[in-house]
Amino acid sequence: MQVFDIPTEDAMLALGKRWARRLSSIDDGAVVFLAGPLGAGKTTLARGILRGMGHAGAVASPTYTLLEHYDLPAREVWHFDLYRLEHPRDVETLGLRDALAGAAVVLVEWPERGAGKLPAANYEVEILHRGDARRVQVRAPNGAANLDGLGNLEGRENPNTAPAESPRPC
Ligand SMILES: Nc1ncnc2c1ncn2[C@@H]1O[C@H](COP(=O)(O)OP(=O)(O)O)[C@@H](O)[C@H]1O
Ligand SMILES: [Mg+2]
Repeated sequence: MQVFDIPTEDAMLALGKRWARRLSSIDDGAVVFLAGPLGAGKTTLARGILRGMGHAGAVASPTYTLLEHYDLPAREVWHFDLYRLEHPRDVETLGLRDALAGAAVVLVEWPERGAGKLPAANYEVEILHRGDARRVQVRAPNGAANLDGLGNLEGRENPNTAPAESPRPC
């Protein structure tokens, strides 16, 4: 697991921008789960990724639409927010199959709402509150090589494998 301590919203955007390069470089496309409570910064991180991939306009949170689609020069990006999904099987009505058909970057907030109906993720991100700061934990279920791709990026990151920690008070 890779751990990043992110003090501000701007730092979260910057983290996303740095990841954008890595995500765009995966030939088959990339699926990224963004987990964490409301207000953790999932959409903010997605916004940074989109900006890093060359999206200049606004980034709407897909909280109500459940999905936003971007056709960017480098890649197509599908940004899902499954918070309001009533049942995991409803994922099938959202066009996820189309999203996975190409070499797109697929960002999924609240992936637990689609449990059992989502493809395996290249990256599983969990964002935790640390007061005003955030702790971003990244797992790459398909192998550590993927994590190196993110970890080699410069920034305020803690390169150590995360200690078995007890949560600090927020
Ligand atoms: N370190 C930080 N990283 C990200 N967001 C932060 C941070 N500190 C404060 N915030 C605020 O937290 C909120 C995160 O909102 P959002 O990205 O929509 O969360 P989510 O999509 O997880 O519900 C924003 O209002 C942002 O300004
Ligand atoms: Mg959100």
